[in-house]
Amino acid sequence: TETNGAKHFELEATAGETVFKPGRATATWGFNGSHLGPTIRARRGDDLRFTIRNHLDETTSVHWHGAHLPPEADGGPHQAIEPHGTWEPEWTVDQPATMLWYHPHPHGNTARHVYRGLAGLILIDDDAGDGLNLPREYGVDDVPLIVQDKNFDGDGQLEENDTFMSAVGIVGKEILVNGTYGPYFEASTRKLRLRILNGSNSRLYNFAFSDLREFSVIGSDGGLLAEPHRTDRIILSPAERTDIVVDLEPGETIQLQSLPVDIDFGFVYNRSHGMDDHLDVLEIRAADELSDSPDLPGSLTEIESLSAAAATAERSFRLSGMSTINGESMDMNRIDFGARVDTVEQWTVRNGNEFTHNFHVHDVQFQVASIDGEAPPPPLAGWKDTVLLVPGRDYRLLMRFSQYTDPDFPYMYHCHILKHEDSGMMGQFVVL
Ligand code: C2O
Ligand code: CU
Ligand code: CU
Repeated sequence: TETNGAKHFELEATAGETVFKPGRATATWGFNGSHLGPTIRARRGDDLRFTIRNHLDETTSVHWHGAHLPPEADGGPHQAIEPHGTWEPEWTVDQPATMLWYHPHPHGNTARHVYRGLAGLILIDDDAGDGLNLPREYGVDDVPLIVQDKNFDGDGQLEENDTFMSAVGIVGKEILVNGTYGPYFEASTRKLRLRILNGSNSRLYNFAFSDLREFSVIGSDGGLLAEPHRTDRIILSPAERTDIVVDLEPGETIQLQSLPVDIDFGFVYNRSHGMDDHLDVLEIRAADELSDSPDLPGSLTEIESLSAAAATAERSFRLSGMSTINGESMDMNRIDFGARVDTVEQWTVRNGNEFTHNFHVHDVQFQVASIDGEAPPPPLAGWKDTVLLVPGRDYRLLMRFSQYTDPDFPYMYHCHILKHEDSGMMGQFVVL
């Protein structure tokens, strides 16, 4: 609803049942329904207000992943919503068009809450994006995909124990897209835009089409890339998003798949973390007649490139084991540092072991300036809020915090393998 120029959304976290496989009801959680949550659509400049009610019998929270907002609205572990409690955050959207997502972030329990089904999307539009003539009819030629993996037990219930030999928690064998088992999409246009979220707790995906056709990557976590990038595959770690456009032929059926992930984590972890898996994700059935789509523009947006030379603070972060950053685990009462508003910071982040880790920072979209001194590949050259850390490499990230300062209320940075986040691979900073 819209009141006094503010857009008001209500989210009700509830327990319920969902039928994934015919004839079986699975206990799940969702927002405004039994599984997942509504897509929130907003424009740059909108004032957003939320009323979030927790009907579960345990404490949760709702974090707006990738959003630039004041710390009190961020929804991290300090904004717990008690059972039967209500939380009413608000902020003004001030970031480029992109797809963000929301999910719980309760201290130590994020993995279970997300896995049970608490997650949803936020689509942000802006004038620059509208002017581009990209596919943008929601559910027709602009289709968001929440990709998640689950394990079901013999009774059709979600298997919540860590996968055997796993150092990353649950690795699911069954893939759901937008909460649907065995999903397909009936396409009616020549160009199909897919905005993909890796909404899984720990699995990496290497997305590609069944015939290895090329597609165009047009956006990353925080907005459009400067120009479309042609490739035939793209890896996403948990919480990362990509925005791609694929060309279809009338009458054809193709599969969006996940290929084995070509990163060597060692034999044991490649296998137990699903890196060797070849999975079907979504069947795409093109109609016998497809309506024409405009050509993609040669250039999409201008990205101001942050300069390492201008960085006034340098910090380094080493993720190791399953629960520490720089040798320390998350402590709700410890603020790790203060970042200065409106200055460029350079963070060097390194995965210190062979487990899967990635790195996510709240409030800001950063740039990957280099990976082991080399320029990042094009899909990582735009705005990012989460980046996969290939073991043993130095990722140099540049970022600038703006607008919201608070000496006491922290934002988080952490590994987005939810088991690791819950085990303490997380720290807190304030913006001063
Ligand atoms: Cu998507 Cu702090 O998380
Ligand atoms: Cu986040
Ligand atoms: Cu990790």
